[in-house]
Amino acid sequence: MKEILDAILDPASRPADFAALPLPETYRAVTLHHDEEHMFDGVAPRDRDPRQSLHVDQVPVPELAWGEALVAVMASSVNYNTVWSSIFSPASSFAFLRRYGKLSQLAARHDLPYHVVGSDLSGVVVRTGPGVTAWQPGEEVVAHCLSVELESADGHNDTMLDPEQRIWGYETNFGGLAELALVKANQLMPKPKHLTWEEAATPGLVNSTAFRQLVSDNGASMKQGSNVLIWGASGGLGAYATQYALAGGAIPICVVSSEHKAALCRSMGAELIINRSAEGYQFWKDDTTQEPKEWKRFGARIRELTGGEDVDIVFEHPGRETFGASVYVARKGGTIVTCASTSGYMHEYDNRYLWMSLKRIIGSHFANYREAWQANRLIAKGKIHPTMSAAYPLEHVGQAALDVHQNLHHGKVAVLCLAPREGLGVRDHLLRATHLTAINRFRND
Ligand SMILES: NC(=O)c1ccc[n+]([C@@H]2O[C@H](COP(=O)([O-])OP(=O)(O)OC[C@H]3O[C@@H](n4cnc5c(N)ncnc54)[C@H](OP(=O)(O)O)[C@@H]3O)[C@@H](O)[C@H]2O)c1
Repeated sequence: MKEILDAILDPASRPADFAALPLPETYRAVTLHHDEEHMFDGVAPRDRDPRQSLHVDQVPVPELAWGEALVAVMASSVNYNTVWSSIFSPASSFAFLRRYGKLSQLAARHDLPYHVVGSDLSGVVVRTGPGVTAWQPGEEVVAHCLSVELESADGHNDTMLDPEQRIWGYETNFGGLAELALVKANQLMPKPKHLTWEEAATPGLVNSTAFRQLVSDNGASMKQGSNVLIWGASGGLGAYATQYALAGGAIPICVVSSEHKAALCRSMGAELIINRSAEGYQFWKDDTTQEPKEWKRFGARIRELTGGEDVDIVFEHPGRETFGASVYVARKGGTIVTCASTSGYMHEYDNRYLWMSLKRIIGSHFANYREAWQANRLIAKGKIHPTMSAAYPLEHVGQAALDVHQNLHHGKVAVLCLAPREGLGVRDHLLRATHLTAINRFRND
């Protein structure tokens, strides 16, 4: 890998140099081991420690097929799906690989006794497979995580509806937390030129998801002036939702759990903030009984902040713990748009507040290629900014995942793969200088 890294770091390298570089037989990757998928049986998901399950191994370079690209990965990031796969909950990702492997001979490459995880990357294309014309070796790229086969008509209006839709690096193998990654070429997008490798590696998954969920007509179709309640407003998804609300002329009502996170939201430009820890909302009396009085107290607080208005859109992802409150506080005719269930996926809400007030619940999941491209374009133009708080070396990926699992992080956590240090990869220094404060906003001091 040293020759590839040297070529990336050498400003004189040309595309032909990358195409001519020999590929190594093996590369370093963050893996889960199939024979450990039951290691946490009997341990509550919240107590499972990713440092025990995530390994850094040398693994063989996969065979490159039609329509695919091999990317030398400079940096990647920890997503919540890294947490899910590392704690083998709610399902072992080896079940996904097994199912995918049955699809075709090429998909069978993914069904291995190890799983290279990771759903984000920034890096340089080193090889393209037959049929790839839009991308060449030497191009600096990021990758979105939508893997589709597109053989069925179902996915041709909106690729997220493809029956063989998968999240790369979670439901497929050869992910981004590694020195090399295998992607479908239609996952590739230009790397934003004003960002370092590690900054560029962090928006992909969450930025695209927030774009579809909040902005796209496939999600909540946010409008200028919309009141948007954003759970976890300084977290992975939420910090992008907050930026989209502000950039689109909407009014975010940011829910966070600490004063530091409240300050981050304020520094993005949000004015209406609820510190859920300080205000002590308890939406459940016990494991099975909700507390509607607390929904009402929460709704009253929102009205206090908005001057008596309710919210048009609730940006949902905590799930079971908050969903009853989310349905309650949406305005008549409002939308609850959900993409996740961090605290539990068996949601409960009082349906009278939904149907009598003509509210809608919309399910949203990642983004199609077009939406991911639009979201990346806004990063590249400096309209939306990365939210990286820290970058860990590949060897410390377990700690990085533990921080996210325990909600100790802010924004996004990057992981350096081939990049020997932080700060490399900036090509447009002028654009960077214009937005430096915003780019560094989430940085841990
Ligand atoms: N479907 C998709 O395509 C997709 C894409 C990305 C992520 N997701 C899912 O979305 C969820 C969030 O991902 P993320 O990257 O934003 O994670 P994250 O960085 O951990 O941020 C989530 C934030 O939500 C808040 N939160 C967590 N539990 C909560 C609870 N019980 N009640 C209220 N707020 C709570 C926390 O903020 P405070 O502590 O500040 O309140 C936390 O920082 C995960 O389950 C992830 O798997 C789905």
